Amino acid sequence: MELGLKGKPVLVMAAAGGIGRGIAAEFAKEGAKVMMFDKDADLLERAALEIGEQTKNRPSFQAGDICKADDIKRVVAQTAEKLGGLYGLINNTGGPPAGKFETFDDEAWLNAFNLTLLAYVRSIREALPIMRAAGGGRIVNNTSSSIRAVIDNLILSNAFRTGIMGLSKGLARELGSAGILMNVIAPGKIDTQRLAHLDGLRAQRQGVPTEELRAAQEKAIPVGRYGTPEEIAKLAVFLCSGANTYITGQSILVDGGMVSAY
Ligand SMILES: NC(=O)c1ccc[n+]([C@@H]2O[C@H](COP(=O)([O-])OP(=O)(O)OC[C@H]3O[C@@H](n4cnc5c(N)ncnc54)[C@H](O)[C@@H]3O)[C@@H](O)[C@H]2O)c1
Repeated sequence: MELGLKGKPVLVMAAAGGIGRGIAAEFAKEGAKVMMFDKDADLLERAALEIGEQTKNRPSFQAGDICKADDIKRVVAQTAEKLGGLYGLINNTGGPPAGKFETFDDEAWLNAFNLTLLAYVRSIREALPIMRAAGGGRIVNNTSSSIRAVIDNLILSNAFRTGIMGLSKGLARELGSAGILMNVIAPGKIDTQRLAHLDGLRAQRQGVPTEELRAAQEKAIPVGRYGTPEEIAKLAVFLCSGANTYITGQSILVDGGMVSAY
């Protein structure tokens, strides 16, 4: 399938590790011009260099905090300037802290709002004028399987990820006529540092070794294993590619069949 991504400028947020890094690498493989953004400057630089070595298409990178409006403005402007536009925007972020409702005060709620929802609103706001001027573009918002079935002990994720669903569905309808397609990816259990951290906490709560908990969780997933960042990345690439001309406003789980809800 011709994906038509060669030379297309794509910005990937929270791209130094985990799912974001996997997505940046897959776009680089397809020949896109990639800009990677992350708050961890060292990890970011290393990731960009490694992806460059693997793909012979080294991404640009810029460090910054996704919770800061000015950092988002800067990276979107830099992408357009350095890469010659902005065709694809992949919104991704760090996960909010785990915990139950009664462990979080207003400050924690506001921080999670900034990290998981407002950051997406801000990057989309900055990207739209550039995409409109170019006659179209693609936006993918990474969320979580908590959009379909709530996850215990992740009340902040449960509350804000569904907000991204509402934002994406509503906005996809506003943007269709401008040639801008927007979709949501919802990962199940993907083998990253974030999942290792959550597994560690869960194992502690249950008083079992982490490896035992992981084995039980993998067994409960129909395909029998955790997913990889690359498996999320392939969907992101397809949704942004020239092969997708009619899918917008959708949310798609990549979860190996884990979530039984429709
Ligand atoms: N891994 C999973 O199984 C899974 C499942 C569902 C949802 N998710 C969600 O997908 C997203 C990515 O997950 P992951 O597993 O790759 O996480 P990760 O923790 O492995 O990687 C997150 C990346 O985001 C960066 N980051 C964090 N806060 C930032 C900030 N304020 N500004 C800029 N960069 C920042 C980190 O430096 C890191 O590179 C998270 O929101 C996570 O909650 C992950």
